[in-house]
Amino acid sequence: MENRIQGKVILITGASAGIGKACAEKLAASGASLILAARRLDRLHNIRQELSERYRVAIDVFTLDVRDRTAVETFSRQLKDQDLIPDILINNAGLASGLDPLQSGNFEDWDRMIDTNIKGLLNVSRFIIPMMVEAGHGHVVNVGSLAGYQVYPKGNVYNATKFAVRALSEGMNIDLAGTAIRVSMVCPGAANTEFSEVRFHGDREAAKKFYEGFTPLSAEDVAEAIFFIINAPAHVNIQNILLTPTAQRNVYCVDRTTNTNPHARHGHNEV
Ligand SMILES: NC(=O)c1ccc[n+]([C@@H]2O[C@H](COP(=O)([O-])OP(=O)(O)OC[C@H]3O[C@@H](n4cnc5c(N)ncnc54)[C@H](OP(=O)(O)O)[C@@H]3O)[C@@H](O)[C@H]2O)c1
Repeated sequence: MENRIQGKVILITGASAGIGKACAEKLAASGASLILAARRLDRLHNIRQELSERYRVAIDVFTLDVRDRTAVETFSRQLKDQDLIPDILINNAGLASGLDPLQSGNFEDWDRMIDTNIKGLLNVSRFIIPMMVEAGHGHVVNVGSLAGYQVYPKGNVYNATKFAVRALSEGMNIDLAGTAIRVSMVCPGAANTEFSEVRFHGDREAAKKFYEGFTPLSAEDVAEAIFFIINAPAHVNIQNILLTPTAQRNVYCVDRTTNTNPHARHGHNEV
C-alpha cells in the first residue's frame, strides 16, 4: 500500500493512552511528524522519547485539557508560532464517566462527558480547522463510537455525546464543502483500553470484567482503521468506519459464550 502519511504533520488529542497512543505509534512508524496533546504530560514525554528514538520522527508534546477553551486557543496559537500546521487532526480525546440510570445520574459525570466529548472536540476543531482552510488542505478524523448508533441501559449521556459526534462530523463535512478538507469518523465497538477503568472511576476489577469472555478490539486495531482513512488519496473521503469485535455485532449482541460470569454473559456491551 502506498504511504501517503510520510512527512505529514498529525495532531492527536488524547494521545497519552489507548487509541490515541496506538495512533501515535502507527503514524510515527509511517514517518509522520506528530503533535501529541493530553492532560498527562509525563506520559506524553515517555511516548515521545520512545517513538522518536525508534522511528526518528519529529514529535512535539503539549499538555492540553480540551475542555479549556482558552487553553485550546493558546495551544493553537503556539502551533502557528512554531509553524506546526496540522495536515491531519485526530479528535480522539474522550471518555465515559459513570454508568447510571438517567434519573439518578451524577451531574459531575454528565459535565465531564459533555465538556470533553462534545465541547472539547468542538473547541479543538474550531481553532485547528481554520488553519487547514488557510493552508488549503487538511483532514479531520473524529473518534465516535458504536455507542453513537445504539443507546444502551445507563449509557444515556455518553450515548448522547457520541450521537453528537456523528452529527458534528456530518456538519463539518457539509460546512467544509467546496474546500479540500476531508472529515471522517471512526466508530469502534468495545476496545480494550483504559476506557472502562475511567468509566468505572478507577475500579480495575469492574473494568476487567467488562472485557471477559470475548476478544475485544485492541487500540491498535482502531489505529489501523484510522491509518486506512487518512492514507486514502486526496480525492477519497472515507466518511466513516464502524468496526466492532467479531464477537460484538451490536451493543446487545455480544457473544460471551466462554464467560463464566452470568451478568456479563447476558449484559449489553457498554462501549
Ligand atoms: N475503548 C472503547 O471501547 C471505545 C469505544 C468507542 C469509542 N471510544 C472512544 O475512543 C476515544 C479514546 O478512548 P480510549 O478507549 O483510547 O480511552 P483511554 O485509554 O482512556 O484514552 C483516553 C484519552 O483521552 C484523553 N483525555 C481524556 N480527557 C481529556 C481532556 N479533557 N483533554 C485532553 N485529553 C483528554 C486521555 O488523556 P489524559 O487523561 O492524559 O488527558 C487519554 O489519552 C474516546 O473518544 C472514546 O470515547 C472508545
